Formats: sequence, structure tokens, C-alpha cells
Amino acid sequence: MKVNVLFSPIIADELYFTGKTTVVIDVLRASSTIITALVNGAKEIVPVGTIEFAVKVSGGMFGGQTLLGGERNTKKIEGFALGNSPLEYEKRVVNGKSIVFYTTNGTKAISKAKFSENLFVCSFLNLRSVAKHLVSLNKNVELICAGRNNFFSLEDTVCAGKLISEIISLKDDIELNDSVSSSLALNDKYGTNILKMLKECDHGKLLSENGFEDDIEFCAQINIYDGIPFYTNGVLKLISDIS
Ligand code: MLT
Repeated sequence: MKVNVLFSPIIADELYFTGKTTVVIDVLRASSTIITALVNGAKEIVPVGTIEFAVKVSGGMFGGQTLLGGERNTKKIEGFALGNSPLEYEKRVVNGKSIVFYTTNGTKAISKAKFSENLFVCSFLNLRSVAKHLVSLNKNVELICAGRNNFFSLEDTVCAGKLISEIISLKDDIELNDSVSSSLALNDKYGTNILKMLKECDHGKLLSENGFEDDIEFCAQINIYDGIPFYTNGVLKLISDIS
């Protein structure tokens, strides 16, 4: 089984992902919000690449049971019901709803990988389940770090490294390449204190400046969920742990 890490979505174009098994990681905060919304009963998440498309889609589709969610520059978008804080996506708010979701980096990375044969979303909150599922599929895997505005981000890469180390603990014939070795090394250095790393990384500092410290604490939790968001027919749905 080969694993490759893309440190930014810009490294590859849409067609690169055709037929592949891909995992999108955007720890702060899109991945963490998506898994939380689905675990709390959202019917599906509709990831979109532009705000205009989000507004258009939310109009008549999905039986009127839609909520618009997401952020621009970390803040809730005018006219949207929800921002991008996982703490907003409580059961009483999202249960049974289709959530049309736009974020600056996360949903763009998901849209870019839409031609994948299998497309999953991972965060610290659910990485063990993702690792188990990837091992059961036994296919080569592309991990996309959503990053920030196409630049590298530490938190996504550490999460990729932790996911890979979890995979290696379940399966010993993983082929290491430079991207995997680098992610594992960053996880060794920063992955022992996730909260500290999330508070000190560039995106964590930006979130703190904007009053989202509680989100950082929430996103720092490891393996609190068994579910895995997977992409099918243009939406993300939940598969429960398949161990
Ligand atoms: C994104 O997708 O760019 C992030 O989730 C941004 C954020 O922290 O809201």
C-alpha cells in the first residue's frame, strides 16, 4: 500500500484524483466541523467551491431542508445560518438537515478531489476510523492537506502524519516516500501535544485573534468519533466505523 501526502491542494489538478482513494484533511476547521455535523445527525453536507454556488444550491434543492454554513476569512458569511465552528453544529440545529457548506480551503480541496473513486474527510476527531477503513480497502492513498490559501499548514500535516502512523500500526507494508517521512517526522515533533501545536500554528493564532479559542480546544481532541465522512453523488455522508 502506497501513501502520498500533498502538502497543498495546488500541487495537483482535478484530473490527478480520477479513480484514486483520497483523504482531505482540514483540521482547523472544515474537517472537524463536517464530521461533527454528520455525527450530530445532519443528513448530508454539500461542499461547494464558491459562495455564489452555495446560495444558488440552497434555494430549491434538497427538499427545502437546507442550512447554509461556512466561513470567509474565518467569519460567518452574511446571510448564512451557520459559521464554521464545529460547536455550532449541535444536534438540535443540524439533525435531518442538508448543509450547503463553503469554506476558504476545506471545501475547495474536497471539490478538487471529486473525481476520486473513494473520497473521505479526516480530522484528529476521527482519524483512527479513517485509518482502519483505509487499511480494509487496501488501496493506494492520497492525503490532501487543505492548507491555507494554497500554502503549507502545520496542523494538517501533523494530522496526516498521525493518520499514517495509525495506518502503519495496523499494516506494516506501507511504502515510505519523502512526503510520508516528512509528515511522520512532524507528527513525532508536534503530535504529542496537539492542543499546544494548534494554539501555536499560524491558523490557530488567527482563530484565537478572532475569538475562536473554544474551537481550537474542540478540534484538538483525538478519536472522539467513529464515523467517516465520504463523498458520494456530490454530497458528504457518514459511514460508521467498519471495524
Ligand atoms: C477553511 O476551510 O479554510 C477553514 O476551515 C477555515 C476556518 O478556520 O474557518
